[in-house]
Amino acid sequence: MSARPDVLVGFMGAGKTTVGTELAALKGVDFLDVDREIERRTSRSIPDLFADGEEAFRELEESVLSELITSGTAGVIAPGGGALTRPGTRRLLAERARVLWLDAPSEILWARVEADGGAKSRPLAVNHHRFSDLQHQREGLYETAADAIIDAAAPPTVAAIACRDSGIVRAGALDRLAELVGGRRAFSVIDAPVADRVPELGERIVLPGGEQVKSMETVEQLWRAFAAAELERADVIVAVGGGAVTDVAGFAAATFRRGLPWISCPTTLVGQVDAGIGGKTGVDVAAKNDVGSFHPPLAVLSDPMLLGTLPHREWAAGFTEALKSGLLAGDSLWELVRKWPSTRGEDQAQATLIRRSAALKNRVVAADPKEAGERAILNLGHTIGHGIEHAAAGRYLHGEAIAIGLVAALSLSVSEAGLSPAVAAEVVALLTRQGLPTVAEGVSVEVVLDAMRSDKKRSAGRTKFVLLEAPGRAVWGVDLDDAVVEAAVTDACCR
Ligand SMILES: NC(=O)c1ccc[n+]([C@@H]2O[C@H](COP(=O)([O-])OP(=O)(O)OC[C@H]3O[C@@H](n4cnc5c(N)ncnc54)[C@H](O)[C@@H]3O)[C@@H](O)[C@H]2O)c1
Ligand SMILES: [Zn+2]
Repeated sequence: MSARPDVLVGFMGAGKTTVGTELAALKGVDFLDVDREIERRTSRSIPDLFADGEEAFRELEESVLSELITSGTAGVIAPGGGALTRPGTRRLLAERARVLWLDAPSEILWARVEADGGAKSRPLAVNHHRFSDLQHQREGLYETAADAIIDAAAPPTVAAIACRDSGIVRAGALDRLAELVGGRRAFSVIDAPVADRVPELGERIVLPGGEQVKSMETVEQLWRAFAAAELERADVIVAVGGGAVTDVAGFAAATFRRGLPWISCPTTLVGQVDAGIGGKTGVDVAAKNDVGSFHPPLAVLSDPMLLGTLPHREWAAGFTEALKSGLLAGDSLWELVRKWPSTRGEDQAQATLIRRSAALKNRVVAADPKEAGERAILNLGHTIGHGIEHAAAGRYLHGEAIAIGLVAALSLSVSEAGLSPAVAAEVVALLTRQGLPTVAEGVSVEVVLDAMRSDKKRSAGRTKFVLLEAPGRAVWGVDLDDAVVEAAVTDACCR
């Protein structure tokens, strides 16, 4: 919905052209590859132009890119992997584009480049060693320029959907709201703690936030406010807040006049790494999240600086979900969470933690939007975790209960899926370092098992386990013997 074009950046082999072409088709806009455009205009090949000197080439590249962006010719543009080395290009993209960084581990990119002719078609692809050195040098540039990270190890179609749906994670992200809303009328639904940090966009309603707001009473309150404002499908709901507010506001948007578009602006760590992404909306009626719908937002805007006022306990609860994402991703996100300090870390590291967690979730949701299969992996730690959350009756935040559930799922993964015990032990240490619980105190094993049984009934007997074979390798739909599960729950409650 943005007037800005999507500019795909990333190293050689990331699939900028393939993914760019698919993304443009999804969005119904044109795609332009800057290298091909330069070749067309100069009637010379890139290696030939490069032979005249890299600096001259980059200058030419910048002027072509600038013209493509300002003329609005293409909705999706892919410059060459080195375009960001020029400060002018970086400024141009920050002001005029949405920048998506297609990233994948070096081995994957090198294999693709080799299969594609190696140095013959790419002057800088000399050997794997130099290739990965250059990739690491460039990473800082991509990282700073990127509005979002896309998992480029995924198949191109999945990566293209992830591009379309991944939002913007950066300081000041909410400043882009007015631009995204454009000529539409906006109605904002805002979580109280952030109310004074949200730009004025028209009518607004401020909610108290927290789980109790996820009720039919709130939905009715919102429907009535939307009706009083005479909102129509051409208008847009802007939801700003924790997972509870984005869930309920997204659900009200999904159902009012059979569905209004909405923009999700998560303001908690749980929201920015998980709840605000992926299009699941809902409220609690007879049980948690038992009424809801899939209603993907038009855009997700996450400003990590908003987390500054979040109590540490809430922040740590979000860290559990980021750690879960790291275990599922198994790549640089896992490396990032492994060395996380006991604090919230540096601003830049926190932004990376959010971007990479969002990349994992966007990739999984793009591959399986309605949870018919792989999306289930996002439930790692949640089967037992939900049981504990229920049995603890409000004493644990969701992320705290999931911390305990994650430890239980990893211990099951050691015995049932061959996970290295060292990984399970490391996760216990990482959670403990954040002050998170790893064992449930004062919680009855029977009540946890009961809650798990009724969860299972609600999902038509389909509740299965997600286990981890290794970081980056999750298996889902695993049936476990009752005795094994009971032992794990007993362990989680009484260790
Ligand atoms: N839709 C999904 O896919 C999905 C995924 C995971 C979780 N969820 C849902 O998300 C909810 C949990 O979300 P949550 O952890 O964000 O909790 P929350 O929404 O309850 O927010 C926690 C508290 O933080 C406050 N708050 C929000 N932003 C703040 C800020 N920047 N500074 C200070 N305080 C702030 C809120 O008012 C609230 O009191 C649950 O209801 C869960 O079911 C949904
Ligand atoms: Zn969760």
